Amino acid sequence: NLIKFLIYFLNILICNMKNIYLTRHGESEYNLLNKIGGNSNLSEKGKLYSKKLGNYINNLQLNTPVYTSTLIRTINTGKYIKLDKIELPILNEINAGICEHLTYSQIQDKYPEEYSKRKIDKLNYRYFQGESYKDLIHRLKPIIDIIENNDIILIIAHQAILRVIYGILTHKKESEYPNLDIQLHTLINLEINNEKIIENRIKLI
Ligand code: G3H
Repeated sequence: NLIKFLIYFLNILICNMKNIYLTRHGESEYNLLNKIGGNSNLSEKGKLYSKKLGNYINNLQLNTPVYTSTLIRTINTGKYIKLDKIELPILNEINAGICEHLTYSQIQDKYPEEYSKRKIDKLNYRYFQGESYKDLIHRLKPIIDIIENNDIILIIAHQAILRVIYGILTHKKESEYPNLDIQLHTLINLEINNEKIIENRIKLI
């Protein structure tokens, strides 16, 4: 184990290795209702995830602050982690404008044209009074800089946000970002060693 530990730190020092942890918030009350946006709290299952995540991360003894959005569901997901927390509004979920607090079927009923425009071009579609995935790419630039400047980092954020961050880090095409698979209750670990990326998805529930 000591040898493994030494190799790990030598890798960080010599090979410029990065160790990145990304997770969505635990299931929220709005997730249960299929509603998007808003600022709801965690569901019972989401609260269980926050405990499992706390245990898992505390055992790793990472030396990094935890970055969350300013929304209750990410802050509470990090609640049991014994590390400093930094809340950043740029990690908040995509702003769905007039579609906030609605379910996808309500959006389809109320704003059928908007719904189909988004279906056709999800990357560029900007919610009325809200944002597009393209906007998120710009909004998240400072986070990519933080990742560049840190060897170890843990981010608790939201589906659209993590699609963009993960897409950038793993060199996906921009057009793929809006449909990347970022599941709930799964911690994504990326070990980036120059061009080589080792990905681990740890399902905690
Ligand atoms: O709006 C909230 C969702 O996390 C983003 O999902 O871009 O697939 O609609 P979507």
